[in-house]
Amino acid sequence: MTTQNISTTVGDPTVVAATAQFLSPVVLGLQALTINGKQAHWHVRGANFVGVHELFDAIVDHAGGWADTAAERIVALGLPVDARLATVAAKAAPTAVPAGFAQSIDMVRDVIADIDAVIVDLQAAVDGLGEIDPTSQDVAIEILRGLEKDRWFLVAHVAE
Ligand SMILES: [Fe+2]
Repeated sequence: MTTQNISTTVGDPTVVAATAQFLSPVVLGLQALTINGKQAHWHVRGANFVGVHELFDAIVDHAGGWADTAAERIVALGLPVDARLATVAAKAAPTAVPAGFAQSIDMVRDVIADIDAVIVDLQAAVDGLGEIDPTSQDVAIEILRGLEKDRWFLVAHVAE
């Protein structure tokens, strides 16, 4: 009987490492957004309550899906991603969402600030991966496009 060696990584190790380097912060930021977005969903009060409360839940759902997309791109190439809760807490940007109740205009601004922190990492991934791995860059572009749409839905609540 012959055994066949099957590589657990796909392609150039440099490409794989770059994908993990640029997409891991995105995974952690989006996982943090799922937690802190729920906090906002539960504690928002005031103007447009129902709409803002439901929008926060949609943002949480999107963030969770995109975290999965980014994490599975890394794993598909053969590397692990450490997105344990303690790692997320240690490495993701601090949230602007408060511990308790807040008025909707303030909570919307807080979630926008959290989204902006993820967008910084996504933009770095788009810029950094273009030359290295367009397929991984495409993942970052897809997530950035969606997150910027969610940001717009929030900004529309507070823009003059
Ligand atoms: Fe809910």
